[in-house]
Amino acid sequence: MRVLGIETSCDETGIALYDDSLGLMADLLYSQIDVHKAYGGVVPELASRDHIRKCLPMIDQILAQTETKPDQIDAIAYTEGPGLIGALLVGASIAKSLALAWNIPAIGIHHMEGHLQATQLTETPTQYPFVALLVSGGHTQLMACSQPGEYEILGESMDDAAGEAFDKVAKMLGLGYPGGPQVAALATHGAKGRFHFPRPMTQKPGLNFSFSGLKTHTMNTLRALKDPSDQDRADIARAFEDAVVETIKIKCTRALAQTGYPTLVLAGGVSANTSLRASLQALSQTLQVEVSYPDLKFCTDNGAMIAIAGLLRRSQWQHDNHEIIARPRWPMTELQGLAT
Ligand code: KG4
Ligand code: ZN
Repeated sequence: MRVLGIETSCDETGIALYDDSLGLMADLLYSQIDVHKAYGGVVPELASRDHIRKCLPMIDQILAQTETKPDQIDAIAYTEGPGLIGALLVGASIAKSLALAWNIPAIGIHHMEGHLQATQLTETPTQYPFVALLVSGGHTQLMACSQPGEYEILGESMDDAAGEAFDKVAKMLGLGYPGGPQVAALATHGAKGRFHFPRPMTQKPGLNFSFSGLKTHTMNTLRALKDPSDQDRADIARAFEDAVVETIKIKCTRALAQTGYPTLVLAGGVSANTSLRASLQALSQTLQVEVSYPDLKFCTDNGAMIAIAGLLRRSQWQHDNHEIIARPRWPMTELQGLAT
């Protein structure tokens, strides 16, 4: 079975070809950073136009480089949501049109299920059940995953997502877009413990998150310094990152205890954060659990995760439905289970 994956939910065009016996055959990623960086964030209309420009040439390139003919492809998986409506519509329209032309089924994939499936791109697929930590620019959620396609929300952010908080703090520190990796890089020069930021919502029981107050705390600390030096900014970045990482670690520990599940799976763009990976990896020793995360290049948006999620959902491939649907908001709990 061979699936073409198309990811266009935000500011990256990802196209990939995944074969269930050969594995990932090809994976192309085009980042729109240069398009948006002058604006300090993603401009939705520019994102849509750029996806239109890139999608088909990238699909052609994937077919050429893998010497694949359309009749060797069994299905097309595309990101149906959540994400930017225009950007999603580009991927959905191209996927549905090609599926019709090639007479093969298409399947709309939930972007966060794609992120979660990115861990399955490694050689040793993760065993169910597990606790999933989904941390991206739009989501911060802890999920109990009992079997493929079954998601129960254990906790989530009441306000900003972790990645969003990183991006906003990046702006405060005068760093560009995308902010998360730049805050993380600056934090490596920061002195641990010079500032101690709060660990929000950890004093009371529960698995929800809130990063908005932490963001305000960061702003107030910065303002109090009046004319912050480079070292001050690095120390603040460090304090912010340490607070986010420790907060997430505390909540993951609770989620593992509450479910009794033996495995923690990280997914989403923020799971590329080195400090977060190291901190959660340490739980494997202290709690005797498995901790698994995607390869670095599959943490942020990519087409491979959508292709492999398309394979997971092969029982729902749609042959005759040519309706083009994009879901900017789409709770993961609305997904149909895949009981085996
Ligand atoms: O999953 P993703 O590529 O797109 C969404 O689905 O949102 O995640 C992007 C988010 C951005 O907020 C970005 O700043 C954050 O992930 N991110 C990071 C790192 N790499 C990406 N945050 C902290 N540290 C990183 N190394
Ligand atoms: Zn994403």
